[in-house]
Amino acid sequence: MKIDVLLGLQWGDEGKGKIVDVLTKGYNVVARFQGGPNAGHSLEINNIKHVLHLIPSGIFHKQSINIIGNGVVLDPVIFKEEIEALNKLGVNSKERLLISKKAHLILPTHRTLDAAYEQAKGKSKIGSTLKGIGPTYTDKTSRNGLRVGDILSTNFIDKYNTLTDKHKLLLKQYDYKYDISEYEKKWFEGIQLIKSFQLIDSERVINNYINQDKKILAEGAQGTLLDIDFGSYPFVTSSNTICAGACTGLGVSPHKIGEVFGIFKAYCTRVGSGPFPTELFDNTGKELQNIGNEFGATTGRPRRCGWLDLIALKYSIMLNGVTQLIMTKADVLNSFDTIKVAVGYKYNNEIIDYFPFEIYNNIEPIYKEFKGWKTELSKFSNANELPEELKEYIKFIEDETKVPITIVSIGPNRNQTIMI
Ligand code: GDP
Ligand code: IMO
Ligand code: MG
Repeated sequence: MKIDVLLGLQWGDEGKGKIVDVLTKGYNVVARFQGGPNAGHSLEINNIKHVLHLIPSGIFHKQSINIIGNGVVLDPVIFKEEIEALNKLGVNSKERLLISKKAHLILPTHRTLDAAYEQAKGKSKIGSTLKGIGPTYTDKTSRNGLRVGDILSTNFIDKYNTLTDKHKLLLKQYDYKYDISEYEKKWFEGIQLIKSFQLIDSERVINNYINQDKKILAEGAQGTLLDIDFGSYPFVTSSNTICAGACTGLGVSPHKIGEVFGIFKAYCTRVGSGPFPTELFDNTGKELQNIGNEFGATTGRPRRCGWLDLIALKYSIMLNGVTQLIMTKADVLNSFDTIKVAVGYKYNNEIIDYFPFEIYNNIEPIYKEFKGWKTELSKFSNANELPEELKEYIKFIEDETKVPITIVSIGPNRNQTIMI
């Protein structure tokens, strides 16, 4: 059985958590393959909202095994907080959660470095979540990092001190004031908790599952436009968020990838700095933000809002080899008279239909307008019942992208999901 991948096609927060939770009943295993606690994946079960940062979104299903893969970067403090929150809800994560020994650890000083680098960048800051993601992946690729498996070695504390000392030197250069003593204490408590979980060679375990015909869903974090190689660099995260990241982040051959579910909002949002061609600075943007409750699940920051960008969407579909599209938050557009979609860019006085190398204020989107459906979508449960205007919107996107939309989400709850 091949492994399916679900990932974001925009700048993150597309609703991955909700949809993974909905799809999990069809899977034996859910695995995160990249990113870390910069992610905030929301699920709503019985009208109670849960936000997961490190733990895969299949954790609420008793029968599913959840894996934190080697491509993930893990902060023991946030891990412990999440496990404790799950315990309170009666979720026995120890039974259902496996952690790769090759996942890298976010140290307290990685977080401090993240803050120091951002401060030094001044106005050109990335708008990082300040969870230590960039510095941890930097240590991974420069071959200085600490991995989950290291916590089992007798000289772990020496390894920790060596890396922390290196960071302290760097922080001195930045003349950055900090105090990690409290966080460090919690960090080592988190390490003790991690030791009580099953630490595995996840690439072997996952490939065994594949050979046993178990159904596996790889859960992406962030979105394609935040990918370290293909996103709006340097305003990106530090991992490969695209489908290829599932291969390296889990140790799975490209031959073993099955369906690629690409998820996007019916409009567009972005949190943090960086280019966003269809961003709206007017009342419509504010309306999208209010109705869509567009505030970050990790940092609480307001998300910038704008219309759907088909140029960007097509680019993302190409990079990932998307086989099925999932459109979320269609209900947020319920009250709009007119809905717009960017179908081209005016770029340096030329009309282009691709994502250029450099984007700043030099792009003017060319919009196609659609009539809004002006209907409360929450009353629908069947695809045939959907209003004609929404059907038209869906068909246009399908025709343009040549990929079918197989799920439309019309609310944050599990059951507000329409299968097409
Ligand atoms: P993720 O990072 O991709 O998992 O997405 P987030 O959880 O950060 O952000 C998505 C937000 O939209 C969350 O607050 C979800 O509860 C909410 N949400 C998801 N799907 C829908 C939907 O179809 N309609 C509405 N109104 N909200 C949704
Ligand atoms: P989920 O998985 C939205 C953004 C940050 C910042 C940039 C770099 O919930 O979709 P980082 O902390 O990685 O150094 O931040 O990426 N960012 C996200 N935006 N959703 C996310 O995750 C994000 N993770 C990082 O806002 O602009
Ligand atoms: Mg999120």
